[in-house]
Amino acid sequence: MKLFMDTANVDHVAAVAAWGVLDGVTTNPSLVAKEGKKFKPTVLAMCELVPNVSAQVTATDFEGMKKQGEEYASWHAHVVVKVPMTVEGLKALHYFRFKNIRTNTTLVFSVNQAILAAKAGANIISPFIGRLDDIGEEGMDLIAEIMEVWNHCHFDTEVLVASIRHPRHVAQAARLGAHICTIPYDVFTKLPNHTLTDVGLKKFLSDWERAKK
Ligand code: G3P
Repeated sequence: MKLFMDTANVDHVAAVAAWGVLDGVTTNPSLVAKEGKKFKPTVLAMCELVPNVSAQVTATDFEGMKKQGEEYASWHAHVVVKVPMTVEGLKALHYFRFKNIRTNTTLVFSVNQAILAAKAGANIISPFIGRLDDIGEEGMDLIAEIMEVWNHCHFDTEVLVASIRHPRHVAQAARLGAHICTIPYDVFTKLPNHTLTDVGLKKFLSDWERAKK
């Protein structure tokens, strides 16, 4: 499973890229607004750190998405154009596939939306599991259903688990065979840690203090 970071913070991307585990970044307008930095320089800085950077179009009509997406794709070969799961978005996904522009479909909340995006030509679909959990549904059930369909249909579209809330979500996504998981920085920094690792290392080091004499 590929690991992406869900952020618009370049320092956070650089920090985790240095671990040697980061395959990409997903941004969205809310994350960009939170950082308060200009969009294009942010995307370009991230493209220097990782091979996949999702940049979301803000147009809602096909022509507008087409124009924005073509512009983003011209910035850097690592850009993946993020398109919302709407009828206009489906038209844009189809157009971008034809143009060899890589795409990620955002705001996917059902199996049928996932199927349509894949049929239209999306390279990636992003089901939002945390937001389903937030309304009392079981977000991971959607991933299980999508992976079941993918096993039958053999789409070449990668399933990216988005809206991750805690480390358990990452392990669950991997167990279900998802292709990609996009993880917020605060969750990412929890992944390397385990209390028994800390206790074990402390003991190794204190024992070594006695052994080396
Ligand atoms: O990037 C899309 C998605 O991961 C958003 O997550 O936490 O806003 O539901 P969240």
